[in-house]
Order: sequence, then C-alpha cells, then structure tokens
Amino acid sequence: MSTIEVIEADITTLGIDAIVNAANETLLGGGGVDGAIHRAAGPELVVACRALPQVRPNVRCPTGQARITPGFRLPAKYVIHTVGPVWRGGSAGEAEVLAGCYRESLRIAREHGVRNIAFPAISCGVYGYPLTAAAAIAVREARAIQHTDTCVARVLLCCFADAAAGIYRRMLRTDRA
Ligand code: APR
Repeated sequence: MSTIEVIEADITTLGIDAIVNAANETLLGGGGVDGAIHRAAGPELVVACRALPQVRPNVRCPTGQARITPGFRLPAKYVIHTVGPVWRGGSAGEAEVLAGCYRESLRIAREHGVRNIAFPAISCGVYGYPLTAAAAIAVREARAIQHTDTCVARVLLCCFADAAAGIYRRMLRTDRA
C-alpha cells in the first residue's frame, strides 16, 4: 500500500528514485521546474533528451505522455518527463490530459522499479492550470495506485510554496474523508 505525502521542497534536491519534470514537448528544457531540473542535472540531461525519438518534428513527448531519463548529477536516480496541458478554461479536455500525465508517469515508474517518486504541480505555473483543480487530480491519481499491486511505495506531491502545500494538504484530507 503506497503512501502519499505533501512536501514543500525544491524537487531537484530530493534523493529519491524518480522526480517528475513538468516539461514541454521538445524535452529540451525551459523555465520553471524544467529549467531547475536541467540546471541541477547538468548538460548530460539535455543530451539524453535530445537522443529520444521525435514522434513529430520537435516533439519527443506529446502532451499527456511521459518519458524517462537518468538523473545524472541530480540526487534522484531518474527524471520522468511529462508534458501537462496548457489551461484553456477547462472545456478542452485539460483535466483528462493532466490525469494522464500522472498515470503515464506512474506507469513508467512501475516499469523501472521506482519505489518513491515526487511530482511537482504539473501545469500549475506557466501553463496556468488552477492549483486547486490540479491538486484534486494529483491526489486522485496518487490514490488510484494505492489500490494496485504497484512497486511504488511513496508518492510525494512536491510543492514549491506553502500556499500550494496548504491546498494539496486540504485535498488529501478531503479525499480521505
Ligand atoms: N521544485 C518544485 N516545484 C517547482 C520548482 C522546483 N524547483 N520550480 C517550480 N516549481 C513549481 C511551480 O511553482 C509550479 O507550481 O512547479 C509547478 C509547475 O510550474 P512550471 O514549472 O511553470 O510548469 P508548467 O506550468 O507545467 O509549464 C511547463 O514551462 O518551464 C516551461 O519547459 C516548460 O514549457 C514548459 C512549461
């Protein structure tokens, strides 16, 4: 039975099996958590990402999917890169796509024997997804694997600010109710 924990931390500092990156479809880096992860991992990360096959010109990871690379200089063993939806008001299927980011990241984690994994608040920065709605999806998808025979023992919902952590913690309590 896996546990779900809300933490406040810089995800690049976590010495766990896998951290999830909120990337873009090129997988060649960007700002936000993507930029922080690439900076901390060092130059080998973008080389590994560039080596991943393009499914379309400049697209190595379509929105809603995930890819895995080593963590290189990060304390985490792996980086699971996923591309969240851009928030367009909520009627363009964003919720299902965001749920897919968690599900696909957890599927890849299982395939690689990952026991503990940390997610940032995917799509809640540049991509503009409302934090409360995104937190509900994150908690629901983390709960879903609690009822499977997964190797994942710990899911960390890693917030970068205490306001976000407060929302995530409230979601976790509500969901448990
Ligand atoms: N550790 C943990 N969380 C972080 C960190 C960090 N070091 N840095 C930022 N965050 C948080 C942000 O506060 C936000 O809540 O990660 C969440 C996701 O924000 P973004 O990084 O902006 O990601 P997203 O909204 O998914 O936008 C992705 O931004 O950086 C580009 O290349 C990226 O095009 C992609 C887009």
